[in-house]
Amino acid sequence: MGIRILGTGSYLPEKVLTNSDLTRIVDTSDEWITTRTGIAERHIAADDEAVSDMAYHAAMKAIDAAGTTPEEIDGIILCTISPDHLFPSSACILQQRLNCPRAFCFDLQAACTGLIYALEVAHSMMLSNKKFRKVLVVSSEKLSYITDWTDRNTCVLFGDGAAALVLGSTDNGEDSIIAASLGADGNHWSKLQVPAGGSRMPVTQEAIDNHLYCIHMSGQDVFKLAVSAMADSCNEALEIAGLTNDDIDWLVPHQANLRIMKMVANRLSIPIERVYVNVNRYGNTSSATIGICLDEMIRNGLIKKGQNVLMTAFGGGLTWGSIIIKY
Ligand code: ACO
Repeated sequence: MGIRILGTGSYLPEKVLTNSDLTRIVDTSDEWITTRTGIAERHIAADDEAVSDMAYHAAMKAIDAAGTTPEEIDGIILCTISPDHLFPSSACILQQRLNCPRAFCFDLQAACTGLIYALEVAHSMMLSNKKFRKVLVVSSEKLSYITDWTDRNTCVLFGDGAAALVLGSTDNGEDSIIAASLGADGNHWSKLQVPAGGSRMPVTQEAIDNHLYCIHMSGQDVFKLAVSAMADSCNEALEIAGLTNDDIDWLVPHQANLRIMKMVANRLSIPIERVYVNVNRYGNTSSATIGICLDEMIRNGLIKKGQNVLMTAFGGGLTWGSIIIKY
């Protein structure tokens, strides 16, 4: 038995916030944001649009593309760092809206690496339990509500969006997920965090006044760690798969910063023409970036049957991971 990607979908909220819009909010410039990050614009969810709402739109597209129906879905794994509520899981709320009565549901939190972790978790669950024949893996993020719109160091980086994949089991042994490498280093957990809102630091008036419910990041530390962790985990995945960089048709890195992506590609000796980039249009949508890339690439016919796609991500935790799929 193996696992295939049956369909993908993505969703970006309607509102677009450009770099020039940001110059009216904080002391920044289009030139600084473009040269330091590669980002030109990002999408921002409506006030009444929550993570499960965006997840719903992406999931419906993926279910349609897979040629299946919500009733056929056996499980939902939803990756997010910006859930509708602390609990219940946004996956359960999505299940109700999609109407997938027989699906197990849980949220998975590995920050920007969420989708990579979730694909490996879904893959392992499906291989070990034959009852799970179709699993929906969704990443959805409303980072705009945990963004400090007075902090130019972070507010220019993030955007909102969602992506979904339907995985299906095959009886002929054909398996799309051919290698995975996952890692984490909790020693650096404080380098990328939302300090308040959990049991460690409840939301108090003081926390609100000091914007402690927003993303705090040591940008330069994260930058350096991201490059080496992603390159190392890509190399580990290649080794597990018995492939070399020449066998990789597409590198799909987490879309946080164009400079990080170029450095990772450079370390792997993969030419930039084989690296998919859309950070210019969407910014960093955390766990959703890779899924949005995959959906765009598949819908635009860029990924062809039989091609090897190496996906790699890095994020809060710190977490990282890489997966190679043979499409
Ligand atoms: N506009 C203008 N100037 C700015 C801005 C801005 N938006 N932001 C920072 N600056 C200034 C700084 O104040 C600093 O000025 P100073 O030299 O006078 O002190 C100068 O620009 C340089 O700042 P640096 O932080 O050194 O800039 P750097 O080149 O490192 O870029 C960035 C910052 C883009 C944040 C980069 O470090 C980065 O991309 N880090 C990684 C982010 C990331 O990958 N996060 C991953 C996961 S996110 C998640 O999990 C949700």
